[in-house]
Amino acid sequence: MSDVDAIVADALAEFAAVHDPAALENVKARFLGRTGRITELLKGLGKLPLDQRRTAGGRINEAKASIEQALEARRAALRDADLERRLRAEAIDVTQPGRGAGNGGLHPITLVRARIEALLRSMGFDVADGPEIESDFYNFTALNMPANHPARSMHDTFYVEGGSHVLRTHTSPIQIHYMQSHRPPLRVLAPGRVYRSDSDATHSPMFHQVEGLWIDETVSFADLKGVTIELLQKFFERTDLAVRFRPSFFPFTEPSAEIDMSFGEGWLEIGGCGMVHPNVLEHGNVDSSRYQGFAFGMGVDRLAMLRYGVDDLRLFFQNDLRFLRQFA
Ligand code: PHE
Repeated sequence: MSDVDAIVADALAEFAAVHDPAALENVKARFLGRTGRITELLKGLGKLPLDQRRTAGGRINEAKASIEQALEARRAALRDADLERRLRAEAIDVTQPGRGAGNGGLHPITLVRARIEALLRSMGFDVADGPEIESDFYNFTALNMPANHPARSMHDTFYVEGGSHVLRTHTSPIQIHYMQSHRPPLRVLAPGRVYRSDSDATHSPMFHQVEGLWIDETVSFADLKGVTIELLQKFFERTDLAVRFRPSFFPFTEPSAEIDMSFGEGWLEIGGCGMVHPNVLEHGNVDSSRYQGFAFGMGVDRLAMLRYGVDDLRLFFQNDLRFLRQFA
C-alpha cells in the first residue's frame, strides 16, 4: 500500500473512531490542516522530478478528495446522531392520556339547597336573599324580640360594629326585608348562611337555613302543614315519611311549633314554624288586620346529613376533597 493510500486509510479509521463534532475537526486538522499529512505531501511535490509531479499530484488530490468526502459524511452522521438523541430525549408520548382540567362538582350543601329551591318553586315560591350582617333591628327587634327580650339569649350571637349589627342568627330577617319590598300576597323562600356561637359534631358556628314565608288573606296553619309535609316527603322521596308539629315558642310566630320528622324509631327536629305574629307583619308594612300567613325555618345542613347519611356536620366545612368528591 502506498503512502497515500495508507494516509487515506488512517483518516477513514480515525474519522470512524470519533463520536463528537469537535474531536472530528481535530482529526481533520491532522490530515488537511496547514501541517496535516496531506498538506505536507502536497508541499513535498516541488522536490519531485518534473515527470513524476503530475501523477503524484493527481494521486494526492484524489486522496485529499476522498478524505474530504469521508469527513463530510462523518459530519453528517454525527449531526444525525445528535438530532436523533435530542428527539429521543425530548420525545412526547402522544398516546399518554391527558391530565385534563379535572371535573368540578357542587358542594353537598349547594345540592341540597338547589333541591329545596326546586321543590318550593314548584309550589309557587320565589327565591330571595338577604344580608349576612344584619342590624339588631332586622335580626331581633322586627321579629318581635326587642332589646332585653329573653328569647335573644337563645341566639348566642356574634356582634359586630360594637353591637349595632350581628352576623344574622337565622334567615328570618329576610321575612322583614321581603315584606318591606313586596306587596302581599307573597310566597317566598330564602336560603342562606347563618351564625351562632356554637360548635360540636352537630353544631357549627356557621350553618345554613332555609326560610319559607307565605302571606295572603286566608293562609292557615293547615297550609303550613301541607307545604312542609309535601316538601319533606318530596325531599326524602318517601311518601310514608311522618311529620310532627310539636307546640313550641318563637317570638315571631303565634302559634309556634317545632317540625319533627320520623327517623328510625324516633323523631328528629328539622326546623321551627308558626303563624307570623301580627307585630312582625306590621314591621314588614303588611296590614295585619287583612293579611296573615305562616313562616318556617329549616336547617339545610341537618337535611343534608340525613339525606346523605353523614354523621358529622363538620365534614361539610372542612373542604376535604376526598369527602366532597363523593357528591360530585
Ligand atoms: N328562625 C327560627 C330559628 O332559627 C326558626 C323559625 C323560622 C321559626 C320561622 C318559626 C318561623 O330557630
